Amino acid sequence: MSFNELGLSPKVLEAVTAAGYTTPTAIQAQAIPHALQRKDVMGLAQTGSGKTAAFVLPMLSMLESGRARARMPRTLILEPTRELAAQVEESFATLGKNHKLTVALLIGGVAFEPQAAKIDRGADVVIATPGRLLDHFERGRLLMTGIEMLVIDEADRMLDMGFIPDIERICKLLPFTRQTMFFSATMPPEIQRLTAQFLHNPVKVETAARSSTAETIEQKLVKTPHDPKAKRDTLRALIRSQENIKNGIVFANRKTTVALLEKSLKRHGFNAGALHGDMDQSARMKTLAAFRSNELTLLIASDVAARGLDIPDVSHVFNFDVPIHSEDYVHRIGRTGRAGREGHAFTMVTREESKYINAILALIKKDLPYFDIPGGAASGEEAEGDSPAPARKRGAKRPERHERAEREAKPERQERAEREAKPERQEREERPERAERQAAEQAPQAPRRDSQSARPQRSERRPRHSSHDDDAAPHETGFHAGNMPAFLARK
Ligand SMILES: Nc1ncnc2c1ncn2[C@@H]1O[C@H](COP(=O)(O)OP(=O)(O)OP(=O)(O)O)[C@@H](O)[C@H]1O
Ligand SMILES: [Mg+2]
Repeated sequence: MSFNELGLSPKVLEAVTAAGYTTPTAIQAQAIPHALQRKDVMGLAQTGSGKTAAFVLPMLSMLESGRARARMPRTLILEPTRELAAQVEESFATLGKNHKLTVALLIGGVAFEPQAAKIDRGADVVIATPGRLLDHFERGRLLMTGIEMLVIDEADRMLDMGFIPDIERICKLLPFTRQTMFFSATMPPEIQRLTAQFLHNPVKVETAARSSTAETIEQKLVKTPHDPKAKRDTLRALIRSQENIKNGIVFANRKTTVALLEKSLKRHGFNAGALHGDMDQSARMKTLAAFRSNELTLLIASDVAARGLDIPDVSHVFNFDVPIHSEDYVHRIGRTGRAGREGHAFTMVTREESKYINAILALIKKDLPYFDIPGGAASGEEAEGDSPAPARKRGAKRPERHERAEREAKPERQERAEREAKPERQEREERPERAERQAAEQAPQAPRRDSQSARPQRSERRPRHSSHDDDAAPHETGFHAGNMPAFLARK
């Protein structure tokens, strides 16, 4: 199968060749002909398998006839995170290089007015996060009645509880006759049931077993104690044990853990940066750009970075915590091993997390081996969930009990749903007076912290005694000094 057989226009084909794509991927080969026939499509394919081009290319072909009118964009792509929306805009720069299209990126956390000005001139394509899109609509800067094609990328996430009210509202503002396409690497049955209200007789394209992980990703589990310090020891030992590591993303379940891990890894000499939803947008973009350009070796991230991000170089993904939603596992580890490249994914598992890991194994229909870190964790403690807890030093943190892990895990579910949706919704609901609004538009608004994240974790609230600081940097002459591979070290 070649791109020529899919029905794409000559201008699109030329850009595809210039992008270096020689053969369409399975999702592209199977979805593009239907998309060009203006059918609704539900496209499910593994991470890194080229779903973006599967909707960008037919959209480009379709846009060749007709033109945009002021404030009435012709096509709309919805994305769950700002970074992902910005990345899809980049795809238009590459694949749409022969098309003189106006592409507007409507995302929260950055100035509103330049976005509005772009739509005023007439946008062919709008790529948006739902909150900011509705903000433009409510301020009367955008009409959605001219939208001919809607793409909801990461569709299962977008129909999840945090986003569904916005998505329902947006879809009511679009013409009934529009074409709609959904894409994702996962689609849990309870969410799939919801898709029926948005898609009309969709063509279902599913290129691999549902929620399966790419064959090119080597996946392993690593046993770790639950104690936070011992967990960080395990993580460092694990990273250092990887000889073939180029760079990696470390995922944690909570924003507070992300911030803590970044500090800790830096103190231990790693070249690390953080990305989570409580950071302001310029810091988020700066960190991501540094990671993309290899200035940063380790990106410590929340699930805000779990979906869609395409950084072809990423050699390793480390899950510091087992994700609570099994689908998140598929997306997190999918940041490596993309487009047929080799990738490595390690998931640290405490005894308390066994039910979550079992759910993941059932979802991906794989049994994953455990990896023994050569020489064990840096602390010398056995990285063995079943081993008896070591005697606690005075001032050291109390090992947390199972009930507490559960209690902490549950609210995160809500926090997760609100993470991207809340700050944006707030931007449009609590609209300041006109004068204030202008000022706010210059400076990005700090997203509101919900009650969960505003309260520091118990361990953070406890006063630290320097002599017992359990995450102190190693001594210069200590274990790690001569052991740090140059590429991992701070620059
Ligand atoms: N036909 C092709 N030939 C070669 N490379 C391709 C082709 N199509 C896409 N790619 C490349 O594959 C990589 C992954 O593509 P993309 O980001 O669209 O994956 P995805 O399926 O959307 O993954 P995810 O589920 O993680 O969002 C990108 O770097 C893209 O440039
Ligand atoms: Mg994608």
